[in-house]
Amino acid sequence: MSALLELRDVHAGYGPFRSLFGVSFAIQPGSVTALLGSNGSGKTTVVRVVSGLIKPTSGAVVFQGQDVSGRRAYRIARLGITHAPEGRSVFASLTVEENLVLTFREQLGRKGVRPALDQAFTMFPRLGERRRQLAGSLSGGEQRMLSLARVLVASPKLLVTDELSLGLAPVVIDEVYRTLATIRDHGVALLIVEQHVRRAMTLADDVVVMAQGRVALSGPASEVSDLTETLLPAAQGEAVPDGEGRSAQR
Ligand SMILES: Nc1ncnc2c1ncn2[C@@H]1O[C@H](COP(=O)(O)OP(=O)(O)OP(=O)(O)O)[C@@H](O)[C@H]1O
Ligand SMILES: [Mg+2]
Repeated sequence: MSALLELRDVHAGYGPFRSLFGVSFAIQPGSVTALLGSNGSGKTTVVRVVSGLIKPTSGAVVFQGQDVSGRRAYRIARLGITHAPEGRSVFASLTVEENLVLTFREQLGRKGVRPALDQAFTMFPRLGERRRQLAGSLSGGEQRMLSLARVLVASPKLLVTDELSLGLAPVVIDEVYRTLATIRDHGVALLIVEQHVRRAMTLADDVVVMAQGRVALSGPASEVSDLTETLLPAAQGEAVPDGEGRSAQR
């Protein structure tokens, strides 16, 4: 199977500061890749390179066989790489349906609204049940579901999430992961940047572990999960972000 996305020996940084040193990995269509690693290891920089926000200084980003390195972010988005919005990013004082209609009308025009709504409610029946409820009164997990449903209208081939579960209570994270699984089941490949290693491993087909701007380990989740567990604490002292004070919620 040919890869959906491939990074080939990517070097990148911020001005004189170098952050990535020869990063290579591939994502297969419809598969889930967990991108793990300690704080500052380069995960977000990889995401920025993939989405075209940063141009690699050398190496290539290849999407569906096309070299897209250095293309503008909006052009890459148009090819089918979408970012999950951070936070809830819904209009709290509008209903679930109004939130969806706003996005769908803007992106698809008036005629596109009805089929897109049907699709969203088929994919996420819970949103259908709550279509007349104010988005602000949804649970945290349902709000994330709504914000993801709004992104999916662009029919992405690859959805990239960077710390989607940051700051969320464990039960909400479970729900976010169920939402991601639903999206994967609809054929969308996922690149998940995650500090919750075990959560990410429940969904991942493949794992890429970064350390100091390099790929320290990569492979099928089934083969590297033990290594990931041992490598991550060693690489970062603690496999948890600063915000892990929220573990107190457990
Ligand atoms: N805008 C920037 N300007 C300069 N250096 C940056 C910038 N963003 C990130 N860096 C540096 O690049 C390196 C990689 O950072 P990056 O944000 O990719 O790490 P990360 O793996 O996402 O970390 P975290 O888990 O903390 O989110 C770090 O040393 C960081 O300080
Ligand atoms: Mg980051």
